[in-house]
Amino acid sequence: MSKTTGKHTLTKSTILLAFAALLGAAVTVDFLWASSSSFAYLSLASTWARHKSRVIVIPNPTNGTEKASSCPITRVNVKSKKDRAPERLLSATFADLPAPELQWEEMPPAPVPRLDGSSVQIKNLLYVFAGYGTLDYVHSHVDVYNFTNNAWGERFDTPKEMAHSHLGMTTDGRYIYVVSGQYGPQCRGPVARTFVLDTKTKKWESLPPLPAPRYAPATQLWKGRLHVMGGSKENRHTPGLDHWSLAVKNGKALEEQWQTEIPIPRGGPHRACIGVENRLFVIGGQEGDFMPKPGSPIFKCSRRHEVVYGDVYMLNDKMEWKELPPMPKPDSHIECSWVIVNNSIIIVGGTTEKHPVTKRMILVGEVFQFDLVSLKWSVIGKLPYRVKTTLAAFWDGWLYFTSGQRDRGPDNPTPRKVVGDMWRTKLGL
Ligand SMILES: *[C@@H]1O[C@H](CO)[C@@H](O)[C@H](O)[C@H]1NC(C)=O
Ligand SMILES: *[C@@H]1O[C@H](CO)[C@@H](O)[C@H](O)[C@H]1NC(C)=O
Ligand SMILES: *[C@@H]1O[C@H](CO)[C@@H](O)[C@H](O)[C@H]1NC(C)=O
Repeated sequence: MSKTTGKHTLTKSTILLAFAALLGAAVTVDFLWASSSSFAYLSLASTWARHKSRVIVIPNPTNGTEKASSCPITRVNVKSKKDRAPERLLSATFADLPAPELQWEEMPPAPVPRLDGSSVQIKNLLYVFAGYGTLDYVHSHVDVYNFTNNAWGERFDTPKEMAHSHLGMTTDGRYIYVVSGQYGPQCRGPVARTFVLDTKTKKWESLPPLPAPRYAPATQLWKGRLHVMGGSKENRHTPGLDHWSLAVKNGKALEEQWQTEIPIPRGGPHRACIGVENRLFVIGGQEGDFMPKPGSPIFKCSRRHEVVYGDVYMLNDKMEWKELPPMPKPDSHIECSWVIVNNSIIIVGGTTEKHPVTKRMILVGEVFQFDLVSLKWSVIGKLPYRVKTTLAAFWDGWLYFTSGQRDRGPDNPTPRKVVGDMWRTKLGL
């Protein structure tokens, strides 16, 4: 699939003209949040992908009379091409991809809305951790969804010292390991503290702290070791390349400190990290993130440059990194948005490259499949809406997702409401 090309050649006036028509009228100052109680799910499962192509025709800058048009990938949809001045092509990686409709069923919503929370599925239970409720409020508890009776049940607290968002998280099927992350609301600082939860007893224990704190590091239990890599460094923005591991068993550290491992080729937070036998995959993510506004007593989030990637890195059992085919589009905020089904990785939603004109954050509304045999990506469906930091699960043939921050509507892919909604669809691969 085409990656970004040519977008650097665009002039500002060109793209401004061309995209005025594509964008809704929404004008807000805050990219992350907006308070709204509007709640229109009704027709959301219907077609919202209006701009399906990956390439958008940009009219010649000297002639503003034409509207931007959407057209098939390689064809330029004009009546008489020779009559026109040369066009420029803009890779529309931010646009919705053509995707089959899926039948989504709405399930009971989580007790609280949640952004940048984390989750772990153990058999028929989905443990959903912490996260922002609003930008000024973070949760410090766990909610548990039971796939057998399709209901939210247990709720218990996280340790006082544990971070609330941007956690690294993984499980061995009983113990849940929780690494580092951001402590507190807005864009506060990270902690290096690491914890383990015994899901049988609901008891928390401490583990040796990470050598340095990280925001949303790629984290996975792989061949007996807890691996933690990438993420953002202490300033919330600078990508970390470091990779550490700790031998663990039954919720206990077998070593006193973390070992240094081969660094990951690209750093940054919000990636899916998945171990499948002797392969460890690190997928998507970004470099850069919001930072605290200098001098702000509440560490108010302020937006900084970020670049989203669809890269796929694989670590093999010789501890060598290999690059695999990238995702169909760049995708970040997917650390808990994946499941493994029938030797495929399924990824649900996320954020993609910012809009080239408005610079707004753009959410992802597709379901992706990565076949672990053929190493091929495909787009297997559409979500009920575009949404980032989904918490995904798979049980008894159903793909589930809950929580995150959803879009402003079918025609507006920028983030708005933080939700606790739970949805499921029958998956057939
Ligand atoms: C702009 O394009 C339109 C439609 O193709 C054409 O009729 C018009 O003459 C063009 N104007 C200029 C200034 O090139
Ligand atoms: C999940 O639901 C099933 C069916 O109602 C029930 O038997 C089971 O005890 C529940 N599990 C938990 C942990 O609540
Ligand atoms: C997984 O594979 C099994 C065996 O081929 C098949 O019965 C099942 O439907 C598949 N599951 C999905 C979700 O496609």
